[in-house]
Amino acid sequence: MHDKHLTELAERRTLNLDSEAATQSLGAALSAQLTPGMVIWLEGDLGAGKTTLVRAMLKSAGETGSVKSPTYTLVEVHPISGLNFYHFDFYRFIAPEEYLDAGLDEYFDGNGICLVEWPDKAAPYIPAADLQISLSVDTDGNNVDDSKRIAQFVAHTARGKLCLKAIFPPTAAPHSSSPPPV
Ligand SMILES: Nc1ncnc2c1ncn2[C@@H]1O[C@H](COP(=O)(O)OP(=O)(O)O)[C@@H](O)[C@H]1O
Ligand SMILES: [Mg+2]
Repeated sequence: MHDKHLTELAERRTLNLDSEAATQSLGAALSAQLTPGMVIWLEGDLGAGKTTLVRAMLKSAGETGSVKSPTYTLVEVHPISGLNFYHFDFYRFIAPEEYLDAGLDEYFDGNGICLVEWPDKAAPYIPAADLQISLSVDTDGNNVDDSKRIAQFVAHTARGKLCLKAIFPPTAAPHSSSPPPV
């Protein structure tokens, strides 16, 4: 499908994560929607909560071992119930060609589930996302213990949209749980 068409079909949502527990609940909700071949991009600064969210997704999917950040290994593989979850972190890439040099394209073969931190560091080579999630620290003055995050979602495919439907059921506020900007 043409890129422009996909963009037009993209669905966007925003969710406030008022605590780490809220991020873990989001991980559990997302985990229940993952199907083989899905690609999820996780964007946001260091400390935004990308690895925390992935950890919650994997634990909820049934990972009983540790979930280490792949910052140094580039990819950590988690086989869970016959399905491979590939957790990537491209933070340390100096040039996006490192993605090709490392042969990482093979992981995106449509069989496993790819959870990608710092996807922009591998652009334009990395395959497109079904769901793009951007996390940021909530800069609201009430964020006294620094535990509030904002998650912004863009679903690019039908599968991505199904994820959003599960997280934002039709009866919930359709676009945002955030107050309108002042
Ligand atoms: N609501 C929240 N969601 C996610 N992480 C949170 C939240 N509140 C506090 N944290 C903390 O923020 C840090 C996020 O780190 P991490 O998940 O490694 O970030 P990233 O992978 O984006 O660099 C962790 O220390 C986590 O305990
Ligand atoms: Mg991380």
